[in-house]
Amino acid sequence: MLNRSITKVSPSHLREPVIPSDRSETQPYGTLQRTPLALDCDIAAASVDNLNQLLADTLTLGSLYKKHHWQVSGPNFYSLHLLFDKHYEEQESLADLLAERVQTLGGVSVAMAHDVAELASIPRSPKGREDPANQINRLLQAHEVILLEARAMAREAAELGDLGTNDIIVSDLIRLNEAQVWFVVEHIQ
Ligand SMILES: [Fe+2]
Repeated sequence: MLNRSITKVSPSHLREPVIPSDRSETQPYGTLQRTPLALDCDIAAASVDNLNQLLADTLTLGSLYKKHHWQVSGPNFYSLHLLFDKHYEEQESLADLLAERVQTLGGVSVAMAHDVAELASIPRSPKGREDPANQINRLLQAHEVILLEARAMAREAAELGDLGTNDIIVSDLIRLNEAQVWFVVEHIQ
């Protein structure tokens, strides 16, 4: 006969690794692995720092769009519900690009929500629901935080000679954020 009793798992058991290893991390956050990209380590390290900042803010803006996608209300509910989700998807794709650029440069990308929250420059949003005007203002403010830091970082990457990073920041991040601002700001013109 099957024993259907549920076995309780103790918290100490959950802390034990499934596959025991004496090394919990293969590369700590904030360190750089030299990669054969013909880029000086100091330049790669500067780009990694900047890209992780942009990544944290991009993930935060993506979450903000998802929050507003779920919580939006009012006469434009359906169009804003769809628009916010489209922008969320685009920010998520951008985050993937930024994270993979960090790894390409030999760095470690910020990833987990608690680490992202610590690093992000975008002001913290309330847990509760806001009206559409406040949602839109909050999104535009977040876009401006990102655009402001991105333009300075793009110039720095160009001056240092990291043209690949400059290209991602300009062609992907700045262009996407500017286009999304246009779609959002037209709702309050
Ligand atoms: Fe949805």
